[in-house]
Amino acid sequence: LIPVLTIDGPSGSGKGTLAQRIAKTLGWHYLDSGALYRVLAQAALQKDLDLNSEKALADLALTLPVWFSVAEDGLRVWLDALDVSDIIRSEQVGNAASKVAALASVRQALLQRQRDFRQLPGLVTDGRDMGTVVFPDATYKVYLTASAEVRAERRHKQLKEKGIDSNLADLIVEITERDERDQRRQIAPLKAAEDALVLDSTQLGADAVFKQISAFIS
Ligand code: CDP
Repeated sequence: LIPVLTIDGPSGSGKGTLAQRIAKTLGWHYLDSGALYRVLAQAALQKDLDLNSEKALADLALTLPVWFSVAEDGLRVWLDALDVSDIIRSEQVGNAASKVAALASVRQALLQRQRDFRQLPGLVTDGRDMGTVVFPDATYKVYLTASAEVRAERRHKQLKEKGIDSNLADLIVEITERDERDQRRQIAPLKAAEDALVLDSTQLGADAVFKQISAFIS
């Protein structure tokens, strides 16, 4: 069986950076499952699709021309020939992503596509339901969380580094709303798998989290 490390958790818990770092260290493949939902949302916004029209969105998900490539500065995400790496990180697209992600047939449409990333020598994947739904038989499962305030602060800092102004209080509200939508939805709600290592990074820096997870999988 091809090994998989799943890292699930709420928005801004630092799972993306961490998953990429571990994948690089191990020489394993990396799947950013959230990017699939974000690209789908971006494609829907471009086409002016209603974010509630489940059938149209599921059809779009089945044929979505989304590709990943690895650059010096990290993962690049493509929608057809368009580099959408930056645009899909906006709060607008993030919010739209969490709406389309609540639709059962959209999730079903993306299921096999995600499983196809499980290739030798191994896969590190991050998202909301990696350990619970997509890879229930994963070798290692981690659930990474932190308080909403700390997660909003991290996002605030990240945006600032990119030269984007944001309001911390607004970010806390947005993050809390998105968490609630992700946790309350009927299909694949955000939660820790029963066999996951749960890590709270409220008081832990990125290096400390990296060390703990490295120890867990070695
Ligand atoms: O970067 P951040 O953690 O804020 O978000 P993301 O991982 O890129 O995911 C964006 C949205 O897609 C989330 O709010 C979820 O609603 C949805 N998502 C999901 O439902 N299942 C996944 N495996 C990954 C993301």
